[in-house]
Amino acid sequence: MSYLELLATLGIGSAHPGGFALTKQLLAHEKLTNESRLLDIGCGTGKTLEYIQQMYDCELNGVDIHPVMVEKAKQRFQEKELNIPIQQGNVEQLTFKDNTFDFILSESVLFFTSMNRALSECARVLKKTGSLLGIEMMALKPLDVFTSEELTKVYGVNHLPTEKEWMTTLTNNGFSHMDVLKRGNVQEARPDESEAPDWMPSAIDDELFSTLQQHQAFLDIHGSSIGYFVFRAKK
Ligand SMILES: C[S@@+](CC[C@H](N)C(=O)[O-])C[C@H]1O[C@@H](n2cnc3c(N)ncnc32)[C@H](O)[C@@H]1O
Repeated sequence: MSYLELLATLGIGSAHPGGFALTKQLLAHEKLTNESRLLDIGCGTGKTLEYIQQMYDCELNGVDIHPVMVEKAKQRFQEKELNIPIQQGNVEQLTFKDNTFDFILSESVLFFTSMNRALSECARVLKKTGSLLGIEMMALKPLDVFTSEELTKVYGVNHLPTEKEWMTTLTNNGFSHMDVLKRGNVQEARPDESEAPDWMPSAIDDELFSTLQQHQAFLDIHGSSIGYFVFRAKK
């Protein structure tokens, strides 16, 4: 079972460094109004979209590649009587028109994609004055071969960019103004234990536990090389 499959099976909300607390901090610094249009790429089970709807009443869209995530987000919105359109789709091939959104949010998603394609799509659908907001993992220093191999095994991705590489990739794909709002180590950014976990689990089996163990072992062994950063990028 892949790591993303694990997240979908457990239906883990706020599955990103810093958890829901960091999401709220990030959004509090932005000028979101009921006229803002926001797209949450890789929105998972829709916890952040639910919060934005209730807090800011923006015009929202969600997209996620995993059918189980989409199903769980729909279930969440139905239970909370929220009318938030969500589609199963790939951020590398968005169906929205050019210059549609004031904000695009990526909470631990771009790292799992083919980043050039995903970022150029984000730049395309973002308005000229819009902001791409991200909470993403990064390598605190270029990873050694062993750590890279483990990263591929556990997360299915070949490369974890350093902050400098992220900036270059953003620049190469249509973003020219970047602000780093926060950076840190993933070990220090484990979700706040005072916050109730938001899980929507499906059937749980042994394979799932082994994937969970691999993920935890990776963070225990390599966590000091893995960081995260919170950024705002504009065109
Ligand atoms: C680590 S989870 C984060 C989910 C959510 N943003 C959160 O913070 O809870 C990554 C999410 O990105 C989705 N994803 C990965 N690759 C994607 C792609 N190419 N297009 C759309 N969604 C993608 C996964 O299905 C998963 O829901």
